[in-house]
Amino acid sequence: MRMVDVIEKKRDGYELTKEEILFFINGYTEGSIPDYQISALTMAIFFQGMTEQERADLTMAMVESGDQIDLSQIEGIKVDKHSTGGVGDTTTLVLGPLVASVGVPVAKMSGRGLGHTGGTIDKLESVKGFHVEIKNDEFIKLVNLNKIAIIGQSGNLTPADKKLYALRDVTATVDSIPLIASSIMSKKIAAGADAIVLDVKTGAGAFMKTLNDSRELAEAMVRIGNNVGRRTLAVISDMSQPLGFAIGNALEVKEAIDTLKGNGPKDLTELCLTLGSHMVFLAEKANSLQEARELLEKSIKSGAALEKLKVFLSSQGGDASIVDNPSKLPQAQFVFELESKENGYVSEIVADEVGTAAMLLGAGRATKESVIDLAVGLVLRKKIGDKVQNGESLATIYSNFENISDVKEKLYANIKISTTKVEAPILIHEEITN
Ligand code: URA
Ligand code: CA
Repeated sequence: MRMVDVIEKKRDGYELTKEEILFFINGYTEGSIPDYQISALTMAIFFQGMTEQERADLTMAMVESGDQIDLSQIEGIKVDKHSTGGVGDTTTLVLGPLVASVGVPVAKMSGRGLGHTGGTIDKLESVKGFHVEIKNDEFIKLVNLNKIAIIGQSGNLTPADKKLYALRDVTATVDSIPLIASSIMSKKIAAGADAIVLDVKTGAGAFMKTLNDSRELAEAMVRIGNNVGRRTLAVISDMSQPLGFAIGNALEVKEAIDTLKGNGPKDLTELCLTLGSHMVFLAEKANSLQEARELLEKSIKSGAALEKLKVFLSSQGGDASIVDNPSKLPQAQFVFELESKENGYVSEIVADEVGTAAMLLGAGRATKESVIDLAVGLVLRKKIGDKVQNGESLATIYSNFENISDVKEKLYANIKISTTKVEAPILIHEEITN
């Protein structure tokens, strides 16, 4: 097989065979096919697209390019959740203990974050002693025992995707639905889940800014998953404003605790119940979505979900007393209120800009090498549609710097007030099941 023929075939709009896809993925991973030929091919894919079969074959070729996690020693149906990424997205911290508390095994591998706030592991590390450096057999044992454990990224997962994604980044070929969908799905499948619930965000703070694009990506991923034998569905949820109130690592842990107690923000709670119901149903722990939701609501009311968080934290070395006493979490030195300068209604909270404000405080990493400050961040006091009066707080800012005029300026510019009443955005746009 010659790479030039594969490029020409895709350039002219024909469907590549599984053998041709394996040929270029394996050749690229091992280094026998150069960047310039793969660049030409990805550009051809960008313009010509890929059929459903090609997308499934590409995904599996990338899965098979490296290690695959074997979760077969864990009892039950392993359901993973994936979010396409947003601002102040506290769902994983809530969902893990919540679905585990009704018997769904949560075997999560997670990484550190780049951008607005840390990743799930960074957030959890604001709990003193908590660590994710555990051995594989310990991880499996913990999931069987407690239904939940989280382990740091290890092994060589989807090396083909790593190389391809880096190349796409510098060849203007990231924005291709078949390439994005297979990239995301290959990582989820290699991580070993039997079933996958996707939270595809839409709006200003999301990777996909419009509902149409989000739907197209969601459908592409759902088809790939189902075509390769992993039950997959997607929820399209709003990211026109940050989710919940808190943006920042320890602040989000506190928000997750509040939510597991039943006192969380309405939007975060609703999204967790929606995604969680799908996870419980896919794991066959309930006979309907309605029954699944009732189980989760009951678990929050009874305290079982909160208890599960304590067990999860302490079994990985964490100080679980923070659950009853969140003031033991890292605390910022300075607390400021962002006071509204006018009367009206909040009409816009530009999610990515507000996320950047949290990053300026030190809550997120600007580069992989940045050190994050777990204590700092923002807690919104108003969301879109809320009435606000002159002098009332729009947000509380937690900082370890005394001078935060740049942060305040950014927030004032991106939390917009209108004199006419504005409706709160729809939280769950669509659910895509096939
Ligand atoms: N995220 C991924 O993991 N892959 C893409 O291609 C785009 C976003
Ligand atoms: Ca939040």
